[in-house]
Amino acid sequence: MSDCYTVIAKYYDKFTHNDCDYVRWSQYLSEAACSRGVKEIVDLACGTGKMTQLLAQRGFVVTGVDESAEMLDEARSKLKAMFVLQDMKKLALTHQTDMAVCVNDGVNYLSPRQIQPFFERVSANLKCGAPFVFDVSSERKLSDVIGNNVFYWDGDEETLLWSNRFDGKRAQMELTLFVRQSDGAYRRYDERHVQYVHTEDELRSALNGAGFDVLQVSNDYGKILKKDSLRLTFLAVKRYK
Ligand SMILES: C[S@@+](CC[C@H](N)C(=O)[O-])C[C@H]1O[C@@H](n2cnc3c(N)ncnc32)[C@H](O)[C@@H]1O
Repeated sequence: MSDCYTVIAKYYDKFTHNDCDYVRWSQYLSEAACSRGVKEIVDLACGTGKMTQLLAQRGFVVTGVDESAEMLDEARSKLKAMFVLQDMKKLALTHQTDMAVCVNDGVNYLSPRQIQPFFERVSANLKCGAPFVFDVSSERKLSDVIGNNVFYWDGDEETLLWSNRFDGKRAQMELTLFVRQSDGAYRRYDERHVQYVHTEDELRSALNGAGFDVLQVSNDYGKILKKDSLRLTFLAVKRYK
């Protein structure tokens, strides 16, 4: 298990407020699901359960999977659903499910050599014909927007410094969090996150190799893909044997 998304978990929703259009994304996912008779969805790298909650509100039976116990604690405080503490590279559900989703960069946390084995695990846990939708931050986003950049979030009780370095293949992110204690002093916490670049061609080929047909690659959940898109969204379905 990694040690990222530990201390930051409690503040994640606050720091990422308004970052992603989850409601529109959930509409896209819901359309992909409803047109295929989906009832159950597994939300991989579900984090604090933002998408899990929206999908549950749309009437799906959702299971959230994440490798961070702290992120899952936050998710459990939002909704009653099945949450599983598991490395999604070793995904093992109790039964094959109707659909898998992985939203907001979960796949960027896997290194290139982990991608195909991960897709194979997803495939093994899905019924034939089941959709799998995920997004990745594009190379352009990791290199030009996130990489070699510093962001900050300054609140009265917490301050976050998010400092990134891009080396051509991955963005290494140093997160430093200062949290105000009851005596007024600030305590410092550090986390290190790594996100990897995955190209469209590499992901298509790994999906193919893992038994998926790619139906659509779009920009940010359904928009037209361009060379400089920041978020690629893949809609694939598990092939019938
Ligand atoms: C950027 S957050 C996104 C969380 C959530 N999907 C959202 O939209 O808010 C990335 C999440 O991926 C999880 N994660 C990264 N690698 C993972 C793995 N191998 N297995 C399960 N979860 C993983 C982290 O713990 C974190 O919760």
